[in-house]
Amino acid sequence: MKIFIKTYGCQMNERDSEALGAMLSQQGHQLTASEAEADVMLFNTCSVRDAAERKAKGKIGFMRKYKKAKPQLIIGVLGCMAQRLGDELLAELPNLDFVLGTGQIHRVPEVINKIAQERKKIADTEFFPDEIEMLGAHGESSWSGQIAITRGCNRFCSYCIVPYVRGREVSRSKESILTEAREMVASGVREILLLGQNVAAYGLNGDIRPPADDHSPFAELLEELNEIPGLLRIRYTSPYVSYFNRRLIDALASCSKVCHNIHLPLQSGSDTILKAMNRQYTAASYLEKVAQLRDAMPDLTFSTDVIVGFPGETEEDFRKTRDLMNQVGFEQAFVFKYSPRPGAKSAEIADTVSEEIKLERNNILLDDLKLRIGAKLKQQTGSVVEVLTEGVSARNASRWTGRTATSFVVHFEPDEACRPGTLRRVEITRAGEVSLFGRLLPEDK
Ligand code: 5AD
Ligand code: SF4
Repeated sequence: MKIFIKTYGCQMNERDSEALGAMLSQQGHQLTASEAEADVMLFNTCSVRDAAERKAKGKIGFMRKYKKAKPQLIIGVLGCMAQRLGDELLAELPNLDFVLGTGQIHRVPEVINKIAQERKKIADTEFFPDEIEMLGAHGESSWSGQIAITRGCNRFCSYCIVPYVRGREVSRSKESILTEAREMVASGVREILLLGQNVAAYGLNGDIRPPADDHSPFAELLEELNEIPGLLRIRYTSPYVSYFNRRLIDALASCSKVCHNIHLPLQSGSDTILKAMNRQYTAASYLEKVAQLRDAMPDLTFSTDVIVGFPGETEEDFRKTRDLMNQVGFEQAFVFKYSPRPGAKSAEIADTVSEEIKLERNNILLDDLKLRIGAKLKQQTGSVVEVLTEGVSARNASRWTGRTATSFVVHFEPDEACRPGTLRRVEITRAGEVSLFGRLLPEDK
């Protein structure tokens, strides 16, 4: 069958879709990018904000035109929204054939065969703890690969639906991660992105208490990955600030392949709001951790997630967030307007900040960010950086792009030796609004 997969939301979903695509291809199905050609349409959905759910529902509803033209078309919803709403979705979207939650993605091949034969609607949202091992297989080889090392989350931040839709936190076994990483590298992968909702809690058996200063299974994993010959870079997302203990910071500084860029969600700079969010750190302890990390790795860059308009957020709370963001000097930030998620704790309290104020605060932070990024990029001009080459630039076919270990995107004109997934030096000649431009230096002999 020809299968169309559309993915919403985070990198974990992207990776699940990739693994699912690989699984379906192995079973003789063919992936297609064309909605009109598809025999099966799969929507891997996100629930993290209301807008993400509305977008997916709108799209799925719109697919009824294809179903009219081709009644045997099978439409399935997977992932977080499927998990949150289960069979309610079958009632809400009459053109749907099946709903499989976050622990049931490995069953897609079986379920589409069953529906093709029996034409009966199916909804299953049971959690399956071994999903992390089942969804191990990676997709087509390229220079970059992703490995989910943890799934689920036990932290229960009060605004967040993830612990409910992704279930309890489980870590994949180190052996299976290392085996997959070695296979990826053998097939040409040069950069591995480690994924998890709470990635630095890897190997702690779901215990949310940060471990003693000398203990970090995540650090041990990074050290073993760092030894794989042929692998050039290791990235990871997203860690929670409290797990960066001495052991982990030392490992990050000593593993040469681990990139000097951390996505470190802040959410708020106000201790009152952090407490209401059930985030277990203060503005001061977050800053202290950033200082320790910078001390160990002076070129480290940071990105973050921030929520504006959490219930009860005052002007003063917002000012603290803005000040803290400027103080850290994030190189990148994702700002979200608070969206109550039925089922999550904070949805029980009133959504007190108006849409208008949320938007205003959102825009203030984005304006700050733009200025800051502009200045950070300008600082790079004249320097020589090392990039991992990615391929032809999406914006300009005569250029290639690459990324520094600190996550700056660099555009340059390629030479004959240019291949994706190699480390090359580029002299930065100018700064754009969000990226850098430079001159590729000859390959080292
Ligand atoms: N409303 C707004 N943003 C949210 N996030 C998670 N839940 C919500 C919510 N209910 C944001 C957080 C998280 C990112 C992935 O999404 O900032 O880090
Ligand atoms: Fe959600 Fe908090 Fe877990 Fe992140 S750490 S997935 S924000 S509950």
